[in-house]
Amino acid sequence: LFRASVTLLAVSSALLSSCTMMSKPDTLKFDPTKYTSGTTTVNGKTYKYRAYTVVYVANPVDSKYQSMNIYVPEEYFAGGSVGSYNAQSAPIFLPNQVGGYMPGEPGDITKPPMGGSADTPNAMQVALSRGYVVASPGARGRTNKDASGQFYGKAPAAIVDLKAAVSYLHYNDAAMPGNAERIVSNGTSAGGALSALLGATGDNKDYAPYLKALGAAPASDAIYAVSAYCPITNLDHADAAYEWEFNGVNDYQKLQITQDTSYQMQRTLVNGTLTTDQIAVSDALKPQFTPYLNSLNLKNGDQALTLDAQGNGTFKTYMASWIQKSAQRALDAGADLSKVSYLTIQNGKVTGVDFDAYAKGIGRMKTPPAFDGLSLENGENTLFGTSSVDARHFTAYGTQNSKVAATTADPQTVKLMNPMDYISAPDTRTAPYWRIRVGTADKDTSHAISAVLATKLTNTGHDVDYWLPWNVPHSGDYDLTELFDWMDKVVA
Ligand code: DHB
Repeated sequence: LFRASVTLLAVSSALLSSCTMMSKPDTLKFDPTKYTSGTTTVNGKTYKYRAYTVVYVANPVDSKYQSMNIYVPEEYFAGGSVGSYNAQSAPIFLPNQVGGYMPGEPGDITKPPMGGSADTPNAMQVALSRGYVVASPGARGRTNKDASGQFYGKAPAAIVDLKAAVSYLHYNDAAMPGNAERIVSNGTSAGGALSALLGATGDNKDYAPYLKALGAAPASDAIYAVSAYCPITNLDHADAAYEWEFNGVNDYQKLQITQDTSYQMQRTLVNGTLTTDQIAVSDALKPQFTPYLNSLNLKNGDQALTLDAQGNGTFKTYMASWIQKSAQRALDAGADLSKVSYLTIQNGKVTGVDFDAYAKGIGRMKTPPAFDGLSLENGENTLFGTSSVDARHFTAYGTQNSKVAATTADPQTVKLMNPMDYISAPDTRTAPYWRIRVGTADKDTSHAISAVLATKLTNTGHDVDYWLPWNVPHSGDYDLTELFDWMDKVVA
């Protein structure tokens, strides 16, 4: 009967497409028969799966990126289960592969993880082995350009694409194995930022016109849980946050994203010292963080988290306490921290952290402004371009101090990229569960950025697992056992 109706559909869609009065066939319907079979090995055990590639919008701009790889444990097609999950209950793991706000292709389960060897399982393999349905969407990015030179992946394209992918999963929930009410997003860096943005903005109408234009499935784009590694987010406040943390640190090892392939970006570091002009920029940006932080009205329990004009106060103590807890856990696990000069350690207890010395210790990686470059030289400038303008400013400071002839992104576009503005907003389904990780050695953005995200979520009643793993640099997916243990716990 199923085959017959597929044939019927094919015949009728051929008829319909020749008749412009009728609506088009529904290309967004999941077809369970269109799969290839594969196997993957995790810790010596082999797992069978069915693999699908779907285009998740009806009117794709670029179907290479606006598509999604789906991997389903073979057991789910025979009424079986994997661990405690079956075809109805299995959570859907939704990892994006975006780095540097570049275009990200759908994840390929057969590829080794970034920086890992061929026998290191990637997050998708681990997910499959633990009974998750894997759905890895591609997304457009800031460098996408068509034959006529028009850009088509500028903000908010990437988040709109990820939302469309989620809508596809909700739309096809009955036809597909996996439970679309248990979607867990995952991403690292720019991908972590998009993961957080996806979780913050569920079903918010600000994105509706963009989704409509793409022909996204008419279904919810809300997700259940967010995993975000070192999210490069809150870009419109990240310059001030960076100087709040690194002001006074004048030597730097600057990141240059030299080359990118579809799967990995190349990061190289160049040594330098801030010029007098750059120090002046740092001094101008740092005090901007205080009014922003205070405007958030964050709390740690009953304690108000605030900063004074010098950038000191309970929020800074709070940041130091996260570093302290991280160091304590490392110490308890046997790490030798006796040479870490910014820690005070007495009788096996980390009793103090000098936050300024910590910033100096880990070192500065970006020159001020860290994100909205005054010559539009940063990746984020090109994120906020338009179809015809490659790069723009996106902060008042950048606009007012620009060194080039430049325009500025409209505030609404900047807002569409910032999860802070959407957490618990009216008519918004912010994901209830969050896991946020940023290494203490990460200097791609200020630690304050993830802390304010995590704290705002906690303060608004969300369940947040926030941690700064000791000495971990800018990276993700380094603790997959713990990640999936957390997921198993929150989806239950
Ligand atoms: C990424 C890193 C950055 O430092 C940045 O500014 C944007 C993105 C990344 O690794 O995705």
